[in-house]
Amino acid sequence: MSFEIKVERTENSRLSQLDPENIGFGKVFSDHMFLANFKDGEWKNARIVPYGPLSMSPATSAIHYGQSIFEGMKAVAHQSSDEAIALFRPEENAKRFNRSAKRMAMPEVPEELFMSGLQALLELDRHWVPRSAGGALYIRPYMFATDDYIGVKPSDTYCFAIFTCPVGPYYTKALRVKVEEEYSRAAPGGVGFTKCAGNYAGALYPTALAQKEGFDQVLWTDPLSHEWVEETGTTNFFAVYSDRIVTPALSQTLLAGITRDSVIQALRHLGHEVEERPLSVQELKDSLSQGQLAELFITGTAATLVNLDGFGHRGEYHSVMEQGNQQVSREVKHFLDELRCGATQDPFGWVQVL
Ligand SMILES: Cc1ncc(COP(=O)(O)O)c(C=O)c1O
Repeated sequence: MSFEIKVERTENSRLSQLDPENIGFGKVFSDHMFLANFKDGEWKNARIVPYGPLSMSPATSAIHYGQSIFEGMKAVAHQSSDEAIALFRPEENAKRFNRSAKRMAMPEVPEELFMSGLQALLELDRHWVPRSAGGALYIRPYMFATDDYIGVKPSDTYCFAIFTCPVGPYYTKALRVKVEEEYSRAAPGGVGFTKCAGNYAGALYPTALAQKEGFDQVLWTDPLSHEWVEETGTTNFFAVYSDRIVTPALSQTLLAGITRDSVIQALRHLGHEVEERPLSVQELKDSLSQGQLAELFITGTAATLVNLDGFGHRGEYHSVMEQGNQQVSREVKHFLDELRCGATQDPFGWVQVL
């Protein structure tokens, strides 16, 4: 299947207004966006237009019933030439997007459409990819229901869109997380494994409460007993012991992070033992008091890999950072950073250079 993409270039590029030393996260958007519409059972009207407002009916069903999903990925400057940029495992984002679409009763976006829209957009806006250290072009593919109809049913029409924004680092320090025991992010049989908009809306209030208590993020636990660690706001969780690394096993209540999978494979490649299994809060506390827990870190596209300073549980703060020298997290972060930008050979075939 191939899709023709019409391109309308902007006449007023905003690129010269970008201050590469002061990018921030998610507030400046590149010149163009990609759009396609689903109607009469097929994707049509694939196009690139100048970034700008979308007009919609007040009855647009995504606003009312939440058929809205997204992905998050990054393009980085690649060392193979002055203009080269690289994507990291983009087809995994396309696959996860479609797993989200299926669960939310939305049409799948053919991988060819996802990839050709993405590549055409990046060709046009490649100069928006920061070449400064730690900078990247964050890419936001998303889809939402567009029927103007307020009956509760899956929409017949949808918009698939991609826009991009240059970003600096998401977190710049080690984080303090609160083990959440009152609120739940996801439940068995629910939508926790998808990137549907509602998952993030439901997390805002508990996260704001945790932030009021001085934490940076919530560490979600299982919704039934609140004994088992799951993930943090938009990242997966890893515990480094003296002889192995443990990360919670995937389930319906966890988002299968592409960084998580890459970190697991990279750690094994670097000779570390990694276990994917249930991980309890009690185990973390016990291993910390026995001197076996050396590091905690979280992983995600936006955050990449960030160390945790420690975790709060039932009013007590457990400091982990001071236990170790962050050797394992540094090693794997360095390996993945070098692989992404072409400074080291990519043994996995993950990096796609444009
Ligand atoms: C809830 C949640 N968990 C984990 C992740 C990390 O996933 P990835 O590494 O694919 O960015 C994300 C971000 O996409 C997320 O939103």
